[in-house]
Amino acid sequence: MSTTQTAETVSRLRCIACAATPDSAAQDFRCTLCGDLLEFFFPGWTSTPPAADPAALKSLWLSRCTSRDALDQSGVWRFREFLPHIPAEHAITLREGNTPLYRLPRCARATGIENLQAKHQGMNPTASFKDTGMTFAASSAHQGKFKWVACASTGNTSASMAAYAARGNMHSLVLIPEGKISWGKLSQSLDYGALTCQLRTDFDGCVRILNELVRQKPVYLLNSVNPYRIEGQKTAAIELLEQLAWEPPDHIIVPGGNLGNSSAIGKALLEMRDLKLIWRLPKLSIIQAQGANPFYRSVREFGGKKLEAMTADTMATAIRIGNPASWKKALRVLQATGGEVEQVTEVEIAAAKAEIGADGIGCEPASAVTLAGLKKLRRSGFVKLGESVVLILTGHLLKDPDFTIKFHRGDLFTGTPQETEAAQTKPLQRAPVVLDANLGAVIAALDAAERNS
Ligand code: F0G
Repeated sequence: MSTTQTAETVSRLRCIACAATPDSAAQDFRCTLCGDLLEFFFPGWTSTPPAADPAALKSLWLSRCTSRDALDQSGVWRFREFLPHIPAEHAITLREGNTPLYRLPRCARATGIENLQAKHQGMNPTASFKDTGMTFAASSAHQGKFKWVACASTGNTSASMAAYAARGNMHSLVLIPEGKISWGKLSQSLDYGALTCQLRTDFDGCVRILNELVRQKPVYLLNSVNPYRIEGQKTAAIELLEQLAWEPPDHIIVPGGNLGNSSAIGKALLEMRDLKLIWRLPKLSIIQAQGANPFYRSVREFGGKKLEAMTADTMATAIRIGNPASWKKALRVLQATGGEVEQVTEVEIAAAKAEIGADGIGCEPASAVTLAGLKKLRRSGFVKLGESVVLILTGHLLKDPDFTIKFHRGDLFTGTPQETEAAQTKPLQRAPVVLDANLGAVIAALDAAERNS
């Protein structure tokens, strides 16, 4: 295995607003001139002739699938020619990526979209898409010889960071909003040994404190403003296109929270087109929960000219974010790919989650906004019959079992303003039945279920 620097992976940092190209990033990963976000770019990819041969890259990446080398077995590092250079001795990998692409036959029937698939990023080592960015950014912290790494999180980033920090022998500091993340996610960061601080604020409040902390203490920031995170997360799109034999789908639909993931997937699509790995761009659409919809409002109400921060509220706690850091990056890829934004209600999210579940594919509430959004994009005519669609499922069902159990017991919306609207989800509910321990009772339950099916 080698990760030697080649012409392809010569990368530079650039500010997305003022185009300054600093040699290195400040602790908060913001441009020291204008304060906006930084991104990596690869000067060789737009040169003539381009530095990379697309056919050779495709076959090199495929050939690594049979390798026994740890980095080749990672669905992120396998695509390292598409990433900035990090020497192999600093790479921290849990064999992330390599996530399945599933057909969703029942959801396909329900939406009328025959060619409907889901790329399940919840099948990563810590059960969310964050691992693809974290392997790469944690490795860059290791390369920078940092003792401490830190993030603010709604739960998945922290779980992922804590795992990779532990693997790389680094300490990790987690700032999470108290009471607003699921137990599954919190338990992960505890088990992986993070210093876990539950702050009496929301996600956006945690971000503010973390930004101040990194200016005072030598801790390495692992939120998605860190451009290494975005680079690692790009690989989900490359792997998806490889799984589709490099034939782009018409649409890719992602949930939007802090908007790092949509930015990463969009960046990968644009770069794959620049490198001639693909010839046409899928439309990348971004779905938000109605109670946490600052980006939806930015696009629909202000034409993307500004983003008004809000106090966010949704039971899809992963995307309970009112001031998304990467909104300008996301806007750029939305416009470049011709995608759309949508917002979905709490009841629509819960119903979509159960529908994906009924296809045998569990996901967490934030992931289910993709299917709920697809239904709306179908109704508006943006997604047309006969088009192909890939939903990006970002987290595993077991991340938030509480939500699922409450939904199936019929308790999720009790006492909330959505109680009446939620009545329509009754047919999707499968509450557990408590029976006496005798055969007759079980047979009666079976017969009743048979009659209702
Ligand atoms: N889906 C899940 C399951 C998430 O955990 C997140 C974000 C998103 C979607 C949205 O992705 O922020 O890149 O737009 N979770 C972060 C966290 C914020 O801290 O775990 P995004």
